[in-house]
Amino acid sequence: MSVLDKLKAIQESALEDIKVIKSMHELNDVKAKYLGKKGVFSDVMKLMKDLPNEERPSFGKMTNETKQVILKYIEEQRTLIERVKVEEQLSKETIDVTLPGKRMSSGNRHLLTQVVEELEDLFIGMGYEIMEGPEVETDEYNFEKLNLPKDHPARDMQDTFYITEDTLLRTHTSPVQIRTMLEVGGTEPIKILCPGKVYRRDDDDATHSHQFMQIEGLVVDETTSMADLKGTLLEVANKMFGEGRDIRLRPSYFPFTEPSVEVDISCHNCNGKGCNICKGTGWIEVLGAGIVNNNVLEASGYDSTKYRGFAFGIGVERMAMLKYGINDIRQFYTNDLRFNKQFKK
Ligand code: PHE
Repeated sequence: MSVLDKLKAIQESALEDIKVIKSMHELNDVKAKYLGKKGVFSDVMKLMKDLPNEERPSFGKMTNETKQVILKYIEEQRTLIERVKVEEQLSKETIDVTLPGKRMSSGNRHLLTQVVEELEDLFIGMGYEIMEGPEVETDEYNFEKLNLPKDHPARDMQDTFYITEDTLLRTHTSPVQIRTMLEVGGTEPIKILCPGKVYRRDDDDATHSHQFMQIEGLVVDETTSMADLKGTLLEVANKMFGEGRDIRLRPSYFPFTEPSVEVDISCHNCNGKGCNICKGTGWIEVLGAGIVNNNVLEASGYDSTKYRGFAFGIGVERMAMLKYGINDIRQFYTNDLRFNKQFKK
């Protein structure tokens, strides 16, 4: 067999070998078999020494060309294998867009947060500033400066968690109003809304909770009047219980306001006709309010001959219970998701 024929035969057998290869691993083996250090061509090169000198260059050239052709086959096969692999993968990974999707469940804000934010929006719209303060308070701010001196019988109305003799868990958010008045120093009008948690030593049941939320408001100005208070509370009634609500004020007593009133809203359920929610009266008691007692203004640095104020206190849970027909205050604190999710907006 001539050298030329031999190279041709190698080339053909390489092509046969390469064409059927399906994996990179096999391809590398075949590449080693033909082109590797101990491969077929190392034997071919041995033939060189038997050739006459003048034939050696053309033999070398032909050998190299054959090697190049085989290398080309290998590279073509490599491309082919890679393409097949990609296609296989693509066909395996096709997405069936007709399959039903997975429902993502999202949380929602707690009902109390929603009610607080609704009221904050309303009052911000009326020019109020939102103020917050500490839940651990001094007796002085929670009671003394609110016209509830030690041994005042009305302290019993707000049975208190004491931490020391002079510090306690605030029983209302009124101390935030004291703090604000003291900060302003009796020189400027005030218009604030104070939302927050408050604490009282109550036995928990359907209508009592040792922790609950309040929103109190305070306006201090030179011309503040009961008429302003009434107009403001009518806004609250319409915002919380729908347009067309009416309110009525009944005389009451709070140490920090004089005169003091209980505020009733015409029943949103029966429109004032009388039902089980309003116990047949057509009215629902929702909050306490009044004209700030002069002693309170003076204790916080305001000249009571010049300034007057009104204040009101809303129980957030009670408001929400009336609005949404919730009959147990503990629902707000037991975090039953079935309850919470009903108020998803
Ligand atoms: N601070 C009162 C309470 O917690 C509520 C209130 C505020 C009443 C302002 C009247 C005026 O009971």
